[in-house]
Amino acid sequence: MKNIRLIGISGSLREQSSNTAILRTIETLLPTEVGFEIYDQLHLIPPFIPGEEETDAIKDFKKRISNADGVFFSTPEYAFGVPGVLKNLLDWTVSTGEFNEKPVSVISASPLYTGGEHALSSLLLTLTALGTTRNEHSALSIPDIKTKLSKENDLTHPETIQQLQDQIKNLLKIIAG
Ligand SMILES: Cc1cc2nc3c(=O)[nH]c(=O)nc-3n(C[C@H](O)[C@H](O)[C@H](O)COP(=O)(O)O)c2cc1C
Repeated sequence: MKNIRLIGISGSLREQSSNTAILRTIETLLPTEVGFEIYDQLHLIPPFIPGEEETDAIKDFKKRISNADGVFFSTPEYAFGVPGVLKNLLDWTVSTGEFNEKPVSVISASPLYTGGEHALSSLLLTLTALGTTRNEHSALSIPDIKTKLSKENDLTHPETIQQLQDQIKNLLKIIAG
């Protein structure tokens, strides 16, 4: 498991984002020898225009993905879909293929009982188009997220923590081949 590097991408730019909180929890649950960073430059990504020259932020993002062994996504659902900022980020990689064969774990958390299921299935469809690698255990929908976070925005719900541990185990297994 040496030298494994993972990256977490949150679909929310909100300061108090529950989805970013999930990625922070994942960071605490990972084996110490696994490197992890949460991507925090999403707000710098310009609108995707095919053929347009890549900005430094886009080049930097692509490099981070190329260098990562696997990617955790955690996203909210907006209007039954993936937040535009996240879809826009992924659109920049369609023709350059940074996500091709990249192992992924895909999570959607929502305050609703539906757990962001539409965003989750939509994101999975996009990640299929991008050629990512995953199995039938690589997706997790987390409903009622507000009740599972502390006042400090930490995940405190044992069952959900166990589900994140399962996601970690599964992603590392996929990476190990
Ligand atoms: C414009 C807007 C649209 C939303 N649409 C949905 C939706 O379709 N389904 C859903 O489950 N939650 C929806 N929500 C609620 C979000 O799931 C909730 O704000 C969530 O906490 C956002 O994730 P975050 O905490 O990571 O920022 C919406 C919120 C906003 C602001």
